[in-house]
Amino acid sequence: MTDPGDLVGLLSLEEKVSLLTGQDFWSLPALPRIGLRSLVMSDGPVGVRGTGWAPEDPSVALPSPTALAATWDVELAREAGRLLGLESRRKGVHVLLGPTVNLQRTPLGGRHFECYSEDPLLSGELAAGFVTGVQEQGVGTTVKHLVGNDFETERMTVDVRIGERALREVYLAPFERVVAAGGWGVMSAYNGVNGLPMASNGPLQQDVLKDEWGFDGVVVSDWRAARDTVGAALGGLDIAMPALENPWGPKLVSAVRSGAVPEELIDDKVRRVLRLAARVGALGEERPAAEVSGSELPRELASRSFVLARNEHFTLPLEPAALTRVAVIGALATDARVLGGGSAQVTPPHVVSPWEGLVRALPGVDVVHAVGADPRPFLPALAVPTTVTLLGADHTFEVPAAAVRWIGNLPGGTDPAAVTGIELVTTFTPLEDGEHTFAVSGFGTFELRVGDETLPIGTLHPAGTGRADLLLAPREHRVTVALTGGVPVEVKLRQTLQPGMGHTIATTLGHQPPGVSAEGLLAEAVEAAREADVAIVVVGTTEQVESEGFDRTSLSLPGRQDELVVRVAAANPRTVVVVNAGSPVLLPWAHDVAAILLTWFPGQDAGLALADVLLGSEEPGGRLPTTWPRREQDCPILEVRPRDGGLSYDEDVFLGYRAWDRAGTAPLYAFGHGLGYTSWHYESLVATATEAVVTLRNAGARFGREVVQVYVAPAGEAPVGVGPHGMLPERPQRWLAGFAAVAAHPGETVTVRIPLPARTWQIWDAGWHTVPGAYTVVAAHALDDPRLTASLTL
Ligand code: BGC
Repeated sequence: MTDPGDLVGLLSLEEKVSLLTGQDFWSLPALPRIGLRSLVMSDGPVGVRGTGWAPEDPSVALPSPTALAATWDVELAREAGRLLGLESRRKGVHVLLGPTVNLQRTPLGGRHFECYSEDPLLSGELAAGFVTGVQEQGVGTTVKHLVGNDFETERMTVDVRIGERALREVYLAPFERVVAAGGWGVMSAYNGVNGLPMASNGPLQQDVLKDEWGFDGVVVSDWRAARDTVGAALGGLDIAMPALENPWGPKLVSAVRSGAVPEELIDDKVRRVLRLAARVGALGEERPAAEVSGSELPRELASRSFVLARNEHFTLPLEPAALTRVAVIGALATDARVLGGGSAQVTPPHVVSPWEGLVRALPGVDVVHAVGADPRPFLPALAVPTTVTLLGADHTFEVPAAAVRWIGNLPGGTDPAAVTGIELVTTFTPLEDGEHTFAVSGFGTFELRVGDETLPIGTLHPAGTGRADLLLAPREHRVTVALTGGVPVEVKLRQTLQPGMGHTIATTLGHQPPGVSAEGLLAEAVEAAREADVAIVVVGTTEQVESEGFDRTSLSLPGRQDELVVRVAAANPRTVVVVNAGSPVLLPWAHDVAAILLTWFPGQDAGLALADVLLGSEEPGGRLPTTWPRREQDCPILEVRPRDGGLSYDEDVFLGYRAWDRAGTAPLYAFGHGLGYTSWHYESLVATATEAVVTLRNAGARFGREVVQVYVAPAGEAPVGVGPHGMLPERPQRWLAGFAAVAAHPGETVTVRIPLPARTWQIWDAGWHTVPGAYTVVAAHALDDPRLTASLTL
């Protein structure tokens, strides 16, 4: 094909602008006249939701991005990208909305689980690997959210004030890395930076991203982030999404006609869209659809990401032949949280829970489950097949449980404008006599009938609540009804929607049987632990704790989970705690349990991977991509609440371990920490300005994996006269300069050459400057576990 940009000359102004303006929730319009098909985008980093975001349209669900970063393996990230690229093609998606490379500035950040790391190098390398993998399949990506969306409070409006040096050395660095790796798309953030909303931020989007870095792809707004017609057009944005409340379309046409926006600027944006369309097969040659089935990658990635934080007396791996009874404890043991909340959610084709994984892996062993403590504030969906009718459109179908969720397209191609409500109908046979609790959550006005009784619910859509708020922070209303065990009743939930809400439906009918007391659950779990060879307690966060749209208010585990761990550990010295959380939580009992395994949000094959690691067929390969605190008040950065609409990153470049080092406080688990099932002897380190060559030997008795981490630290007197200001600013005590994942058999020696980028030695001071002087180069197992050092003078 000729240069797709040449097609611009064939288009009217209206046509050009239409290609920059979302036509619905997820796509741009087709222009058959020039052979352009509709370009379809979809979230997100762990799977490919597709345009329906619907349970009947499942997608592979990989472990959360923090888990991917915990592998420290760029090649694995690339494989993850390849799988999601294929998955995109299977689902007709041209552009995958990810990866998320905002930094884990504070563990209170609500989307912490969706970001890679607190370190810009680790984030950038992993993201570059992922993007390369997706794009190898002919599918686009949008690295997001440019920039400063590192917390969620007031995210649509907050102005984040970030110094030039911190922007360059830290927050922009992963974006710059992805652009250098050839990323085809960037998503601009909701928030503003230094006085300008990101969607209209010319200094960062036009001057830095496009002009300085030479980015030739598209800048897509976050959903409803573009609000200013002319500002966004002049500020480097190329595509405004979605159709809803879009400031472009006819308004942009008028702005061009009035001379407020030069038409050449529109042409540049259209050229970028056409270039992207050609890259992803929406223009010219159509790419073939793909088949995806039975990948082992979700399982492998999960076990490679699990971080063994503690393993007293080699409690793990467990010896299956020595087990007769295993107690698996915790509400999340049977209802694992496999992915984080918000737009990163997909519906996995299946979920293997920790309990199920262990049952499958331990035939002949009595694997018992006890809830112990239930942190979930919402009741789980009534787990019986349910008939759904879309009222107004008269479309009826079955779902496996009393819960539905669609954002965007509706099932069966139903027109969202036609839908006035929905009805869920099912028959439920209670097991027990007594007061059963039913819980309704969703948007709109509800009426619930259980048998002959009509139960008042009313509206769960208070006036003035926005769509995003309703979706990200839903409300639940509970009612109780007396039922007789063994007698079936018809349950009917009728939901009336407010006009225009047909494409945002997320409704759950939850249920809880009678007689569940918190004390009783704890006592039952302690009993189960006492009678078992080993107690495996699964604790974690809930969707109300970690999700998009809000920040966390506490790092403690919700509910009575800490008490559960303490009581189980007192009953059984072989207590293994599995932490199912996307970001750091406090572990006040960390020194009182035999082993701790951090499993993040582990994706669809959670239980299979957990059994692999607990029983030793796989090693827990993860190393911490973020520091885990001992106490909340030790965290160097906890501020996520803007004041007067702004939040300043006063700490400058000192976040993550750079800040812990500066404060001189020891965390519970340092950056890079993670144990394995073998041991490593580091034999030699040779460092130059461009690479570190490390030789190490597997000194244990099992095959194993190691992540070789290279840190550099300034040594001796700080040089003077660096940069135009002639004064060297304070630098961190040390920083990650390179890393490599290696594997070896017992006794085997491996040598890795780890490139050290030029940026290792540079600071930003109105330009990049190499800082000469003496440095120590450290080859380490973790930040707090250095193995070999070398000196270097630049
Ligand atoms: C999120 C983005 C996401 C978009 C589309 C926004 O609310 O911030 O990360 O890609 O929605 O779902």
